[in-house]
Amino acid sequence: MLNFEFYNPTKIVFGRDTIAKLNGLVPHDARVLILYGGASAQKTGTLDEVKAALGKREIHEFAGIEPNPSYETLMQAVEQVRAQKIDFLLAVGGGSVIDGTKFVAAAANFEGEAWDIAVKRGANITSALPFGSVLTLPATGSEMNNGGVVTRKSIQAKLAFHSPLVFPQFSILDPTKTFTLPPRQIANGVVDAFVHTVEQYLTYPVQGQVQDRFAEGLLLSLIETGPKVLAEPDDYDARANLMWVATLALNGLIGAGVPQDWATHMLGHELTAQYDIDHARTLAIVLPSLLSVRRNSKRAKLLQYAERVWQITEGSEDARIDLAIQRTRDFFESLGIKTRLADYELGQDAVETVLGQLDKHGMTALGEHQDHTLAVSRTILEAAL
Ligand code: NZQ
Ligand code: ZN
Repeated sequence: MLNFEFYNPTKIVFGRDTIAKLNGLVPHDARVLILYGGASAQKTGTLDEVKAALGKREIHEFAGIEPNPSYETLMQAVEQVRAQKIDFLLAVGGGSVIDGTKFVAAAANFEGEAWDIAVKRGANITSALPFGSVLTLPATGSEMNNGGVVTRKSIQAKLAFHSPLVFPQFSILDPTKTFTLPPRQIANGVVDAFVHTVEQYLTYPVQGQVQDRFAEGLLLSLIETGPKVLAEPDDYDARANLMWVATLALNGLIGAGVPQDWATHMLGHELTAQYDIDHARTLAIVLPSLLSVRRNSKRAKLLQYAERVWQITEGSEDARIDLAIQRTRDFFESLGIKTRLADYELGQDAVETVLGQLDKHGMTALGEHQDHTLAVSRTILEAAL
């Protein structure tokens, strides 16, 4: 097992009717800014519930954080934070709202051009406002991690940042708040959590036994629960399982002490920035091709994945790997998520564009061995046509 440090200070409050607990989680004298997305938090009543729970505190609101939150929008929130002397942020929404809130928290007291936070991947964050979240969409794990992704529309750049200063203080996970999600967002959430798990699991063996078993448990749970949430939308326990799995898939636990390969996400972010494809859908396009192209360096773990996740034990090594990748693709497709660039009306031009952007963003030595070059990305993207 590799050396590691594990730190995660986010308190999770999980279950039905837990929004009322905000009263004990947010300081009583706080000047709170509630940040949310488009119309969903209002329409579903979650926003009203949050406001009621905050009682007599001074509350302000910032609406309109879009999916794949933009720097342009978030800087308006930063202006509001400064003008109203806000000292506590509360995100109500999915990954985009929580990521956006992390950026606002870090940018509020940042000196200089705040886009630099994204350019330097968060290394220059020296302070951040405290914040919590009320999660409404299980997918990203943002509710219990220290990462965020922000898009600058004017230059079509989507960049991730990390800092120990942007962990949420707490996150409320009430599965009943996900009942209003459209099937498209549920499917996206299942695929996003699946790919997060794979990226911390399908590398090379380091005898991280419990990490492997945790990862396999999360993948098996997603394979079992994902279709159930779609088929039985009123099933509370299915929702609860999906919500907790998605959080555990990216809260640092399964990635501690094992190699990681975030190349699927890096290629996916460029596809979203250029073509506005939902985050999870970009991952579903890239992952099957990536696993196939990278089969030699991932061989041992691919065979383990085939056996333990898909119960494939017969045939040559390559046949087992091919079948495991096919099962993965079929699983995504069964959720209604297309896995080919052509399904999104993209062709060779898109491959060239994405390669240019990867180069521009320094994404030229990716993967668990940092040997995933632009040439490797080209092979993967062309295999995804
Ligand atoms: O904007 P509203 O009206 O609120 O609608 C949202 C949005 O349109 C809707 N929604 C959310 N909760 C709902 C709901 N609709 C009905 N009922 C509810 N309860 O869902 C739509 C998508 O929301 P969004 O927050 O964009 O989705 P998601 O949670 O998938 O977040 C995606 C973003 O997270 C980033 C992605 O890159 C992307 O920008 N990621 C963040 C990560 C992290 N912080 O660790 C890791 C991930 O890999 C990912 O990169
Ligand atoms: Zn993701």
